[in-house]
Amino acid sequence: MGTNGKTVVLVVAAGSGSRVGGDLAKQYRHVGGRPLLAHAVDRLRHPSIDEIRVVIGPGQEDLYREAIGDRALPSPITGGETRQQSVRNGLEAIAAEGGATHVLIHDAARAFLPAAVIDRLLDALEASEAAVPVLPVTDTLAKASETLGETVARDEIVRVQTPQAFRFDTILGAHRSFTGEATDDAQVARAASIDVATVPGDPALEKLTFPEDFRRMDEALLVTRTGLGFDVHAFAEGEELWLGGLLIPHEKGLKGHSDADVVFHAVTDALLGILGAGDIGDHFPPSDPQWRGASSTLFLKHAAQLIEEKGGRVDHIDVTIICEAPKIGPHKDAMRGNFANILGLPISRISVKATTTERLGFTGRGEGIAAQAIATVRMPEDQ
Ligand code: CTP
Ligand code: MG
Repeated sequence: MGTNGKTVVLVVAAGSGSRVGGDLAKQYRHVGGRPLLAHAVDRLRHPSIDEIRVVIGPGQEDLYREAIGDRALPSPITGGETRQQSVRNGLEAIAAEGGATHVLIHDAARAFLPAAVIDRLLDALEASEAAVPVLPVTDTLAKASETLGETVARDEIVRVQTPQAFRFDTILGAHRSFTGEATDDAQVARAASIDVATVPGDPALEKLTFPEDFRRMDEALLVTRTGLGFDVHAFAEGEELWLGGLLIPHEKGLKGHSDADVVFHAVTDALLGILGAGDIGDHFPPSDPQWRGASSTLFLKHAAQLIEEKGGRVDHIDVTIICEAPKIGPHKDAMRGNFANILGLPISRISVKATTTERLGFTGRGEGIAAQAIATVRMPEDQ
């Protein structure tokens, strides 16, 4: 596997992303908490790749620097009006700086490159001057017209992806003599009568072209985290008993600065744990009079909102309430409903359980109630 000599990847990122829309070119848009170009560059760390060169649009220097951060890369090359021109500028810049033996020409918009595709392309280059990743077409294909046109035989057709791998001098020569228009470099190579080998592509290389592609990728890049919460409040005469957002008739209530809803507090801490954002006391200090008697619904909503602002999705909440009395069973579903409303989740994703401690310890003696909670949340990796 691999090649002798110098293998350079040329990443073209000089487009304007007009089909995605918005003011920011798509290669600088954040997906999974990071600019698309940063993902593209990070997926190119591979033992057979010696250098990564990025082609950017004129005036995109600041966006580029921000996207690349502290990744050590040679200075970017300025692209042109069309993708083809951007590639040409890149190849010429590499040639002017001493050239290379092999080049992989890659779209920043296909950021999520599996290493196995690089291996397959470089293997193919040992016997061929050019190699591209392709995927079969699974949909029925037909000519487009006002009403549906003739069906096209799909087994004669493949979808062509990038990176596209070439011997460097071969593709440079092909670009220099090419006069037409081309959406990829295999077309330029074929116009120069160069045989282009194919290797299996990968669905992960799908190009991000439309806004919904970004939404889908954002979703796919979420990673699961868990947060843990625990709280205790003591019983006292003359207090109300709030548990899981319900006012429960009981001879005693729980004492606390707020409404002392030990169940909501445990879940709030579990959600804050997801974010590494301290605990409920950091957000709502007991010393602050404005939280005296406050409904703990506020605390839970606050934690849920912080998660939402960071692009997180709460998947599941599991709570255990530890007490001898009152009996929790009759109230479980109402508590689940409260959580479901506040967190905007179906009730099936909320679990409320209860246990006694067999009359042992402070809960066993009826001195107070404890609650434990675990939250499972999908978050963008970098948040
Ligand atoms: N590209 C480039 N220079 C251009 C045009 C495109 O380097 N003048 C790059 C894009 O940045 C992208 C890749 O070529 O990484 C594939 O092009 P495409 O997906 O069409 O991106 P855009 O041209 O930016 O998007 P659109 O066509 O929707 O405007
Ligand atoms: Mg384009």
